[in-house]
Amino acid sequence: SIIAVIMPVAPETAYEEVYKKIDERAESFVARLAEAVAIPSVSAEAKRRHEVIRMCKWAEKELHKIGATTELVEPGMQHTDIGEIPLPPIVFGVLGTDKSKKTVLVYGHLDVQPAEKSDGWNTDPFVLTEIDGKMFGRGSTDDKGPVIAWINAIECMQAVGVELPVNIKFVLEGMEESGSEGLEETLNKRQGDFLSDVDFVCISDNYWLGKNKPCLTYGLRGICYYTVEVACAKQDLHSGSFGGSVHEAMNDLVWVMSQLTDVKGNILIPGIKEQVAAVSPDEKAIYSAMDFDHKDYANDIGAHGLTRESKEEVLMNRWRFPSLSLHGIEGAFSQGGAKTVIPAKVIGKFSIRSVPDMTPEATDAAVIKFLNELWATRGSPNKFNPVAYHSGKPWVTDMKDPHFQAGSKAIKRVFGVEPDYTREGGSIPITLVFQELTGKNVMMLPIGQSDDMAHSQNEKLSRHNYIQGIKVMASYLLELGSH
Ligand code: BES
Ligand code: MN
Ligand code: MN
Repeated sequence: SIIAVIMPVAPETAYEEVYKKIDERAESFVARLAEAVAIPSVSAEAKRRHEVIRMCKWAEKELHKIGATTELVEPGMQHTDIGEIPLPPIVFGVLGTDKSKKTVLVYGHLDVQPAEKSDGWNTDPFVLTEIDGKMFGRGSTDDKGPVIAWINAIECMQAVGVELPVNIKFVLEGMEESGSEGLEETLNKRQGDFLSDVDFVCISDNYWLGKNKPCLTYGLRGICYYTVEVACAKQDLHSGSFGGSVHEAMNDLVWVMSQLTDVKGNILIPGIKEQVAAVSPDEKAIYSAMDFDHKDYANDIGAHGLTRESKEEVLMNRWRFPSLSLHGIEGAFSQGGAKTVIPAKVIGKFSIRSVPDMTPEATDAAVIKFLNELWATRGSPNKFNPVAYHSGKPWVTDMKDPHFQAGSKAIKRVFGVEPDYTREGGSIPITLVFQELTGKNVMMLPIGQSDDMAHSQNEKLSRHNYIQGIKVMASYLLELGSH
């Protein structure tokens, strides 16, 4: 027998009315984003933790404005170099509790990466500045713009009196850029209540593959982060007085770090590529069909060449093969000018972006074993301490799930084109946690462009993408009524 469930399907005119309202309110939406960007909620900087907390409370207030009920959950304390500081609260929001409707959970983050004007920004990173339709500011695209876009979309639906066909739940956090500390534990405790009636999960925290074509995203890489400490003396030494007589920590560390990849970026650590899921026969066709030009891509970032020759290989190396990046060396001299010192202790930082079927356990074991074996061949008496610092698993879902059709219809309405279906090389470890705790489909709905430069100097969100993105989000919520 067929059980018919009557869902409130939005009339066609509803979409046009909502779009008109969004265009009318565009200025106020830019102002709302400017308010958020002005709060320097850098989760990595302990001395700015109060700003992250302020940002969470600001977001809570915005949720109240659209009629959501909220709950701030304090996940506990964080151990930092200035002592124990509170983790920012996780903002849980609920808008609508109609049992006859389905429920979508929206996740986003309110914290940002560090930014200083002196890093090479053209404008103050915490003052949203629009130049030629580009709104520059830290967090504009990652992830304050998309989080606020959801709120704007809902506000406009309410303003024109269109009934929300779904209940909406929010999970907004302030520690994403620092490994989402405290979030997984908090969500685990809420599987039986807050998460129990969720039917779909949607995350807008990534970017289009290019600058013009919208997409929906069905995969993210994971990350395994490592630190390697080498210590040679109790304090820094004059390299003239002591050079030549001691085994130098920095020389040891650089020697180790130089042996992790070859010139093409291939990972030289045994036991990593062995874990990677085999490429299926029809998989290459997915990458061939993609609207992507690897030469333009190289040009956009000013790269002097790419590690792979074809479009398909470049995409696969970004999305479905692991990569290893060296990030920096704590304790090393890095200012301008010439300082003649032997650093006493240096800590190398590197990470591996992981893919199915890699696991953090197997990856950590392979990396630590390799580092220790390499170190044994060095013959240095120095203190050597490799540590697996944090990890997050990769996520891939079924892009054929009906949930993705709601996203694709929304994009078709606003942009008039079918989206590309992409994976991403970046990581949002909580994505898989949502999938596992709800047992429901997770979809990523990006609104920013490939050249938004998240984490970098001059991060921006184009005004056009912001406003059209708000329309896509509103449309997606309306489409969910018939899913
Ligand atoms: N929004 C990004 C994730 C992302 C990056 C998606 C690039 C798609 C492309 C997120 O804010 C982020 O930066 N995540 C961190 C996670 C890490 C701290 C565990 C990342 O990928 O480095
Ligand atoms: Mn982000
Ligand atoms: Mn980020």
